[in-house]
Amino acid sequence: MNFQNISTEQKGNSLIITIQRPDKLNALNKLTLAEIGQAVKLGNDNPEVYGMIITGCGEKAFAAGADISEFANFNVVEGTELSAHGHGVYNSIEHSKKVVIAAVNGFALGGGCELAMACHLRLASPNAKFGQPEVNLGVIPGYAGTQRLVQLVGKGKALELLLTGDAINAEEAHRLGLVNHVVEMPELLEKCMAIVDKVAAKGPISVSKCIELVNKHLESSKPGFQQEIEEFGIMFGTEEFKEGTTAFLEKRKASFKPLQ
Ligand code: COA
Repeated sequence: MNFQNISTEQKGNSLIITIQRPDKLNALNKLTLAEIGQAVKLGNDNPEVYGMIITGCGEKAFAAGADISEFANFNVVEGTELSAHGHGVYNSIEHSKKVVIAAVNGFALGGGCELAMACHLRLASPNAKFGQPEVNLGVIPGYAGTQRLVQLVGKGKALELLLTGDAINAEEAHRLGLVNHVVEMPELLEKCMAIVDKVAAKGPISVSKCIELVNKHLESSKPGFQQEIEEFGIMFGTEEFKEGTTAFLEKRKASFKPLQ
């Protein structure tokens, strides 16, 4: 299959999916998200693939979030559709029958952090940075960040990250359980591939059932996931969203009005 914004390469047992938008810090526009979803499906359908590894091109970013320039002019309906689309792709990753690992090689912000969280495992290079900076833009996470961050790091830390928009480094992410291993950049992909190789030797039905049952425990059809899609869309009709996204595109700090 020919992709525009990602590349895929089979190496041994692994299908490596690389986001290829380095000049935009691998920001996830709609097409890129759709292509990631298609690539994960290809991996699941190919009996020679035992696991997928998602990473970003270059040494600076895994993915610096949803593409702000693409959605800045969206209305409520378009915002809701964008979120529903992202939820769909990320749910398909979470429910993949074969293991999906995020090789986080730099910024994993907003939709990038949410992409890593939708994967089953996260390995990060020491320069990786994780965060949900949406509040800086006058919006909320729209690809299940309000839900999966709580699942992975607990309510207190999730709220701190969501409310301050602060990014944390790989070591702290590791300490919090957001990251499974921190691995120096040259060995990052190799370590991910070694995990896929290990899983490849196990019973594939057993592996897929473990994934499904862990997902069952943290059901992504819970009301919070659906409500996030609706609330994300609602934000697109607010002055707050207009000011936040315009400020980013104008490379200035946003100035928000107090809550009435
Ligand atoms: N959407 C669209 N474009 C993005 C982007 C995003 N999420 N993140 C980065 N870019 C673009 C920048 O606009 C810039 O493009 P330009 O060269 O055409 O101006 C390019 O990528 C490089 O980014 P820049 O901001 O110059 O790099 P930096 O090293 O100074 O800062 C970040 C890096 C990650 C701190 C900064 O890019 C940033 O804050 N990005 C947005 C993160 C975010 O809010 N994500 C959540 C979105 S919902």
